[in-house]
Order: sequence, then structure tokens, then C-alpha cells
Amino acid sequence: MKRRERMTDRIRFVLNDREISLTSASPTGTLLDFLRLERRLTGTKEGCAEGDCGACTVLVGRLLGDRLVYEGVNACIRFTGSLNATHVVTVEHLAAKDGTLHPVQQAMVDYHGSQCGFCTPGFVMSLYGLWLSKDNPGRADIEKALQGNLCRCTGYEPIVRAAEAVGAARPDALFDPLLKERDAIKARLKAMASEQTIVLGDDAAKLIIPASSADLADVLYSYPQATVVAGSTDVGLWVTKQMRALNPVVFINGIADLQSIRETEDGIIIGAGVTYSVAFDMLCERYPAFGRLLDRLGGDQVRNMGTIGGNVANGSPIGDTPPPLIALGASVTLRSKDGSRSVALEDYFIEYGRQDRKAGEFVESIFVPHLPTTDLFAVHKISKRRDEDISALCGAFRIRLDADNRVTFARLVFGGMAGTPKRAAAVEAALMGKPWSEETVLNAQAVFEADFKPLTDWRATAEYRMLTAKNLLLRFFLETTGEPAQLVRFEGVA
Ligand code: FES
Ligand code: FES
Repeated sequence: MKRRERMTDRIRFVLNDREISLTSASPTGTLLDFLRLERRLTGTKEGCAEGDCGACTVLVGRLLGDRLVYEGVNACIRFTGSLNATHVVTVEHLAAKDGTLHPVQQAMVDYHGSQCGFCTPGFVMSLYGLWLSKDNPGRADIEKALQGNLCRCTGYEPIVRAAEAVGAARPDALFDPLLKERDAIKARLKAMASEQTIVLGDDAAKLIIPASSADLADVLYSYPQATVVAGSTDVGLWVTKQMRALNPVVFINGIADLQSIRETEDGIIIGAGVTYSVAFDMLCERYPAFGRLLDRLGGDQVRNMGTIGGNVANGSPIGDTPPPLIALGASVTLRSKDGSRSVALEDYFIEYGRQDRKAGEFVESIFVPHLPTTDLFAVHKISKRRDEDISALCGAFRIRLDADNRVTFARLVFGGMAGTPKRAAAVEAALMGKPWSEETVLNAQAVFEADFKPLTDWRATAEYRMLTAKNLLLRFFLETTGEPAQLVRFEGVA
């Protein structure tokens, strides 16, 4: 039987304690609309509809190998078509049948963690996700778990106190629905995982879920114009904010052979379906500065959905991962029905909105070489808020020094300074062969204008971007040497 003939026309998942089977669904229908409008589960709220506020947070359980993992996600930008073989858990599932609140909910009551209550279901779900995954979380764990939830009323402190109190209440875990159901849910999800490509709809509105990367190559051969969706943290906004109609939509988040992250002798290979959350530990271990950057990329909900492959494929000039990836010398493997090819990531971004990806090709994986122990490496993201904000600019810095403190290798890459993530070739040249000193850095700052002509937009002015990029190089120098240096200032500013 030919691969494309192996198809089915049904999406199946578990919603709280019910099995859902869909034979029709809009390719861009969101989970939030499905919950609120079709299932009347209105505990999950819509605040921003763009993955920022967390009011729509639900947990999605999925099998990662043999493990059942529950992750908080933004239902407002998660498409229903991405849910096959998952367990969606909404706030309605937490309280016992007799109405007894879950310990997480009770703690929010006891510690006055809710005022108007609009954000509360989202906070409860984020805290529930933390409670499931960590005993006695510390302040940093709690703050990280709440990065993706905004509250305009309580000031957060009561919510954090509720989280601290409930963190010690693990005996209650025995009564928790997700812990009780775990084995049964695992078996149900295993049975739902499709070995066949799923196709819903017709040519006017089609949704496709390939069963494997080989099937994905076939699908894109037939539909080279299709929108490929991995985490939907960007594509979701095309729909909810720009009202774009996408057709067909191909969901790749469930493709098992795109889900691996593995280490080789030379580096690590990150499959296109690997989320930021899954990649986090290995990136932190191998490239700590890169790992730490991910802590400032969205909140947990975004990191649990978004993928590094998607961040690259999307080609945004302000994506957070391309600058460090290019500085590390990463390459991208592109695959199609005709085979695979590898492209240096710095060559993949051609110009704004255009990447070196041909019709029918998809990003299969990203290879990141090991960082030699001789190299100094840092990544700095500048945004208006520390947490959960999009970069105004992002700089990645990597240099190597010889025994005489001279620069023998330099790779400086910036996002937000041009139409693509881009190396600062003139600045690198100004550093090469020079002593790693304040004088060299100040001279190199003077040639930034040869590399970049940044734009002014609502995130930052061109002037701010240029000045900040220069100062980030100085910051890198200070971090690596500890020497005092003078900041470059706007003219006329004391
Ligand atoms: Fe704000 Fe979904 S409604 S993150
Ligand atoms: Fe009102 Fe959080 S309690 S927004």
C-alpha cells in the first residue's frame, strides 16, 4: 500500500474524563473556542487571545516515549487539530465530584489569591501543573511557573503564598484526579496514537496530521503551499489577531520521529518537533548562556508548545534562538520527498520574509556543534519586560583568545538589527587579531554602522537598537574580563 493511501479521518483525544472524536474541525479552530463554544466549559477564559496573559491556561497531557507528561499551554493559540492522542485538562476537572476544591484551588481561597477572578482559572492551572511536577517548589520555581500568567488585581504576592503553602501539601496528591487516572490515561492515549496520516475536511478547508516525517514529505509534495504548524505560538496569532485563513494546515507536533533531541560526538541534533521545554536541560548543560535565554522566552505555556525548529523555520528577524544558534555555528537539515540537505543557519536567512527553503521542503532538525571549552560565549536579550516579552534586540557573542589575549575567532550575531538574524561581519573583523581590551572594543563599536541599519518600530527606535547593540558588546567584554569600561551614551545625555 502506498504511504498516502494510509489515511484516517478522525482526531481523538481525552477532554477531562470524556473521549472526544472529531471527524470535522476547522484547520485553524482554537482549543479555547472548542472548550467555551462547543463544550460550554467556560472556566477557561479568554484575555488576550495571543498567548500573553495565561487566562486560557489548560494542561495538555502527552506521551513522551513511555512517560505521560502534563504541560500548561495557552488554549487561545493552540489549534484543536494539534490535539490528537492528548489529554486536555481544564479547571473543571480539578474539584471532586462532591464539590470539594482541589488543594491548589483551596490554597488560592485561603491566601486570597483571587479578586476579580478573571485570571484565576489560568493561575490555578499553572500552579496545578507545578504542583504535579515538583515537590516543595521554591520561590524561583513558582515565579517561573507563573511567568505566563498576568493578574491586574492581586499583585501576585497572595498567589505566590498560596503556591508555597500548597507545595507542602503533597499527601493530598492521593486524591488528585490526574495521579489516580495516570495508568488508564496512558493506555488510552497509546491507543489513540495514529499510525496513519489523519486528514479532515475538503479542499476548501483541510487539516492534515502526518503520521511520520516521511508522510510529511509526501504531504508537502502534494501541498507545497500548506502552512506547517509545530507549536503555533506564532501561527496562532496569524489567526487570532490577523484573521488569516490558512489552508491546508499541516500539524507536525505529534510526529514521533521529529521529537528527539540527542547528543553526538560533535554536537546535539534537535528534531523540529522538540519544544523549548524539552530542549531546556540539554541546552543549559551544553551552552548555559543559551539555556538561560530560554527562561526569558515566553512563559511556560509558550515554551511547552513552541519549538526551536519553528523559531528557525518561521524566519522572524526577532526570533530569540537564531542569534545564539548562528554564533554556535548551527546548521539546519531541510528535507523533502527528494531527499535532505544541510544549510549553515547563517545562510538559511536570505532576507526579510525569505529563507532558503524550497517548495515541499521542511525543517527536519537543527545541528548545534559543541562549544569548544576555549570559547567565551554569551547571549543577551533586550525587551521591555524581563519575562514573556518579544525581543527588541538579541545579541549572541562568541570569541576565542590565544595565549597572548588576542582574538583568534569572533562570531557576533544580532536579532532585531536587520531584516534577518545577522552576523556583525565588520565588527568581527575589527576584533580579529586584536588584543581583547577596552580599546579594541571601543574601536569595534565604531564600525557597527557598517553592519546594521536598524529600523524604528514600536519595540524600539533605530537609535536605541544601535546604541544597545554596541553596549552589549561592551557588556560582553566586561563580563569576560571584569575590567571597568565606559558606557556609550546618547549625545547630550549626562
Ligand atoms: Fe491570554 Fe490565551 S487568552 S494567553
Ligand atoms: Fe483580577 Fe487577577 S484577580 S485579574
